Amino acid sequence: MPVTPQPVLSPLTRAAIFLVLTIDEGGEDAVRDLLPDVPALQRAVGFRVPDGGLKCVVGIGADAWTRLFDAPPPPGLHPFRELAGPRHLAPSTPGDLLFHIRAGAPDLCFELATQLTARLAGAATVVDEVHGFKYFEMRDLMGFVDGTENPEDADALAAALTPADDPVHPESSYVIVQKYLHDLDAWNALPVEAQERVIGRTKLADIEIADKAPDSHVAVNTIVDADGEERQIVRDNMPFGTVGTREFGTYFIGYAADPSITELMLERMFVGDPPGRTDRILDFSTAVTGGLFFVPSLDFLDDPPGPPGAPPAAPPPAGTDADSTGDGSLKIGSLKGIPR
Ligand code: HEM
Repeated sequence: MPVTPQPVLSPLTRAAIFLVLTIDEGGEDAVRDLLPDVPALQRAVGFRVPDGGLKCVVGIGADAWTRLFDAPPPPGLHPFRELAGPRHLAPSTPGDLLFHIRAGAPDLCFELATQLTARLAGAATVVDEVHGFKYFEMRDLMGFVDGTENPEDADALAAALTPADDPVHPESSYVIVQKYLHDLDAWNALPVEAQERVIGRTKLADIEIADKAPDSHVAVNTIVDADGEERQIVRDNMPFGTVGTREFGTYFIGYAADPSITELMLERMFVGDPPGRTDRILDFSTAVTGGLFFVPSLDFLDDPPGPPGAPPAAPPPAGTDADSTGDGSLKIGSLKGIPR
C-alpha cells in the first residue's frame, strides 16, 4: 500500500506559525488523540479559503516518542545536540512537539494554531511561538533572498523524505528548527560588498559569487559527498520580528531524510571545518533555540502504535461470537483445496 507523507514539500507560503510545545505530565493521551485528527483540522480550517494553501506538519521529539509510543524511536531521532564552537553556541532547547503551519495568509495559520492548542489545553504547553512572514522578494531581514538553492521536484523528494520502500518509516522526514536573532545595527553598518562576502551571493540580484569566501554562509553549507554528489536539505526559513523591542530574526527550518546532513551543516557553521573557520553569518545572528523532530507519514499519524506499557489486547472470553479459536483466524475455514 502506498504511504502518504505529511505536506513537508508544500510550496513556500507568505505566512507561517511555528509552535513548539512540551507535553505536560499526564498529557500523553490527549496528544495521542490529537495526532490522527490533525489532517482533518487542517481540512476544516483550510476548506473555508480554497486558495489559501493551508498546510500543517507535525513533528515529534525524541523524549516525547518514548512517552507516546510502544515502538522503537526512528533511527535518526535524538534530542538536538548542542554545539559549542570557539565563538558561537547552538543551544538545545525543550520541545516535544512541533507544528509547522503554513498558508498564504496569517489568518489561516492563526485559526489552525488556535484549534490545535485548544485540543491540547491542559495536556501540552507552548514553549516557543513564532509568527513568520515572507519579506519583500523572499528576502530575510538581513536583506538577502533566502531559499534560492532549495532542491526542487525529485531532488526535493529525495532530500526531504525517507524512501517509499523504507521498511519501518517510509515517506517520513526529520526536521531541525532554530530561532535566530540578528544584530541588524551591526549588519546594516557593513557595506553591501562586505555583506555579500558574508553570505556568498550578491544582494540585489541574488547571484552566487564564483570565488566566494570559504567562511561565507553558502560555502559553509555546500556539502559534497565522496561521490561528488551535493547533499541537500529542504529549507523554509521565515523572517519574524517586533519593531518595538527591535527583535529581528530568522526562523530556520530544515527538512531532511537523514538528519545527519543538517547536523553536519550545523557542525560546519558553529565549530568550523577546519575547526575555528565558522560561518560568518553567526557574527551577526545568534541561535536562541534548537530542536530536532521526527515527521512521520500521514498513515502513521492516522494509526500510531499503542502507548508504552499497554497490555497486549486481551483475547475475548471463550464461547463468545468473537474469535473463539483465539488464534486470530477469521473462521472462514481453510481455502486450501477449494477450486477457484
Ligand atoms: C543558503 C540565509 C541559517 C543552510 C542561504 C542563503 C541565505 C541564507 C540568504 C542564500 C540563498 C539560498 O540559497 O537560500 C540564512 C539565514 C540563516 C540561515 C538568515 C539564519 C540566521 C541556516 C542554517 C542552515 C542553512 C542553520 C543549515 C543547518 C543553508 C543551505 C543553503 C543556504 C544548505 C544553500 C547553500 C547552497 O547550496 O547554495 N541561507 N540561513 N542556513 N543556507 Fe542558510
